[in-house]
This record gives sequence, structure tokens and C-alpha cells, in this order.
Amino acid sequence: MNKYRYLFLGILLVIAGVAGLIYYYGYCSACPFRSGRMGMGQGMGGMMHGMMGDKKTEFSSNGERIFFTGVNSKGESIKNSHDMDGVGCSMCHGSDAQGTRMMTDVPSLSWKYLTDPEGHVHPTGRRHPPFTESSFKSCVLAGIDPAGNELNSMMPTWQMSNEDLDNLIEYLKTK
Ligand code: HEC
Repeated sequence: MNKYRYLFLGILLVIAGVAGLIYYYGYCSACPFRSGRMGMGQGMGGMMHGMMGDKKTEFSSNGERIFFTGVNSKGESIKNSHDMDGVGCSMCHGSDAQGTRMMTDVPSLSWKYLTDPEGHVHPTGRRHPPFTESSFKSCVLAGIDPAGNELNSMMPTWQMSNEDLDNLIEYLKTK
């Protein structure tokens, strides 16, 4: 039966190789995935570009800079529980802030969605009333949603100043 074990390992290696290639080409502006000639690659490329914030380097506000880079306009990298440097919210929540699916559901951060009067029932079963500015801040700082649920630890907690939080909220209100 060992034969099947090796077959299985072989298939896993092939999948890992293909995923690696897609990952690699996701960064390359000249590649066919990006120009949209290949359907599936387009999705992956789009996701990778979303994660890299399309290598955005110019920002019209402090909130936008934090959203994309995790660094504020003073050049301070915002500390987070994952010890990630220079990573903003866009890496997981998408460069358009509309949410993504990674290992789990990553919700939209558009202010309209966060403050939906109906609140949210997430695909994970987590439910909570609408966010307010103050409960949004607790969520980012401590990983607790407005119902007091602890968020999945994939969502880092952030040591962000109140001013930076206000600027970030201002930016999310444009989404
Ligand atoms: C490494 C990935 C990752 C990064 C980076 C990240 N988040 Fe999240 N975030 C998540 C995940 C995953 C969830 C869902 C957690 C859950 O459902 O328990 C989440 C949930 C949230 C929620 C709760 C939304 C809701 O409807 O309950 C808020 C608010 C939030 N993130 C804000 C932010 C902000 C602001 C930033 C940037 C400063 C950020 N996140 C960066 C992964 C991330």
C-alpha cells in the first residue's frame, strides 16, 4: 500500500509546485495571469496584487497609508500581535476593503458594512450587533467584536494610537 502513499505525496508536491508558480507570477506585471488572459490565474493574481496593495506607494491620507502598509504618516510601523512589519489591513481584507476568503472568512471593512443596522452573522457562526467607532477600536486593539466574541487569532491585534484609529475609520468611511 506504500505505493499509494508515494502517489499521494507526489500529487501534493505537484499541487505545491503549481501554487508556487501562481504565487510567483502573481507579482510579475508582464505575466499572462495579470492581463486576464487566463481565467483562474487572474483570480490568484488579483488576490496577490490585493495582498501587496498593488505596491501602492502614494497615499492621500494617514488612514489610507495605514490600511495599505501598517505604517503611519510619521513613519511608525504599527505593532501587531503577529509581529508583522509593514503589513496593513489590505493584505487580508483586500485592497478594496471588501473582504476576502483566505483560510477563513475575512470580512469587509467598509464602514457601511461594519455599521449595518442588522449587525453581522458571519459564515463561521459568529454574530454581533453593528460596530460603533468605539467598538471598532476595541476590535482592532483587543480582537473582541461588539458582542464580546473573541476573533479568530488570524486577525492580529494592533497597538494603534487613537489618532491613527480615527484616521483609519475616516478612510474606511470612503469604502
Ligand atoms: C493576517 C490577516 C489580517 C490582517 C492583516 C488584518 N485582519 Fe482584520 N480580520 C482578519 C480575520 C481572519 C478576521 C475574521 C476573524 C473572525 O471571524 O473571528 C478579521 C476580522 C476583522 C474585524 C471584525 C469584522 C467583523 O465584522 O466582525 C475587524 C473590525 C478587522 N478585522 C479590522 C482590521 C483592521 C483595521 C486591520 C488593519 C489594521 C486588519 N483587520 C488586519 C484577518 C486580518
